[in-house]
Amino acid sequence: MSLYRTMLFCPANDLRKVGKALMLDVDGVVLDLEDAVALSEKANARNALKDALALPRKGDFFIRVNSAQTDFILSDLLAAVTDGVKGLVLAKSETAEEIRQVDWLMGKIEKERGLPLESLELIPFIESANAIINAYAIASACPRVSRMFLGGVDYVLDIGTNFSKGGTELFYARAQLVVASRSAGIEPPIDTVYPDFKDIEGLIADAKSVRQMGFQGKLAIHPGQIGPLNEVFSPTPDEISWAKKIVAVFDESEARGQAVFQVDGKMIEYPIANRARRILALSEQIAKKS
Ligand code: COA
Ligand code: MG
Repeated sequence: MSLYRTMLFCPANDLRKVGKALMLDVDGVVLDLEDAVALSEKANARNALKDALALPRKGDFFIRVNSAQTDFILSDLLAAVTDGVKGLVLAKSETAEEIRQVDWLMGKIEKERGLPLESLELIPFIESANAIINAYAIASACPRVSRMFLGGVDYVLDIGTNFSKGGTELFYARAQLVVASRSAGIEPPIDTVYPDFKDIEGLIADAKSVRQMGFQGKLAIHPGQIGPLNEVFSPTPDEISWAKKIVAVFDESEARGQAVFQVDGKMIEYPIANRARRILALSEQIAKKS
């Protein structure tokens, strides 16, 4: 599984910010051609992608293209399906049909450009009630779909409410995305941006809550959000030492023919040992990266 604790958004037409974003300690950068770009700047933003791709970078490079329902989609895909791009994020994805149409077009462009077929991932941005209802069909629309993003700002607008600190209004959508992703056999989803970027305490509480719900990471909009998000989505030193202890004790017990026992008053069995192994695998992946 890949490692996406923090993915930073950046307007594609702001090369100064793009250059900075690519060198920050994030697992991925998403250059935006959609809402962060004024209508009059769409063509400039597409043209800037070439320059952005030539810049040095630390994390994976993603591009958010405009919705498949817009007239921007074809030019966006022609500019964005290119070598060096890890994947495309499809704004306002609504149906599986639309995902398959974009997948088909991406395949044609890959072929024409001599790129391996399905070399780019496709990440549906789920940001409406309709998309939440279609989440499983979207997640399983084609093999290119690797994980989904939740777009909370547009979603709360669609269901007629607004962002709150507690996130009550996002609870159903978040749970649905985790379950639909798992059922479709794709990676866990990445949670919405937290727009109030000066409120780090609120960001951390929000991130902890979605980590507990099963999200692998969160979208960021500002450099100040990166450190706190990386920390929340990485195992803590306590979790790592717990996991090492559990795996060691479990392996020894299992070898003696015993699969259920207690450690410090808590029952240990296969699922707990497997959870401990996952924590260790994640921490190894993080160590390799840094
Ligand atoms: N990527 C890279 N650098 C960023 C950044 C981002 N997303 N957001 C801010 N920075 C940089 C700024 O350029 C500034 O750098 P400097 O000190 O060298 O001048 C520094 O971080 C501090 O920024 P700050 O002054 O606090 O914010 P700002 O007014 O420059 O930008 C936003 C605020 C919200 C406009 C900006 O964070 C942004 O564009 N975020 C991404 C928006 C986006 O893509 N939205 C679409 C998805 S929802
Ligand atoms: Mg939006």
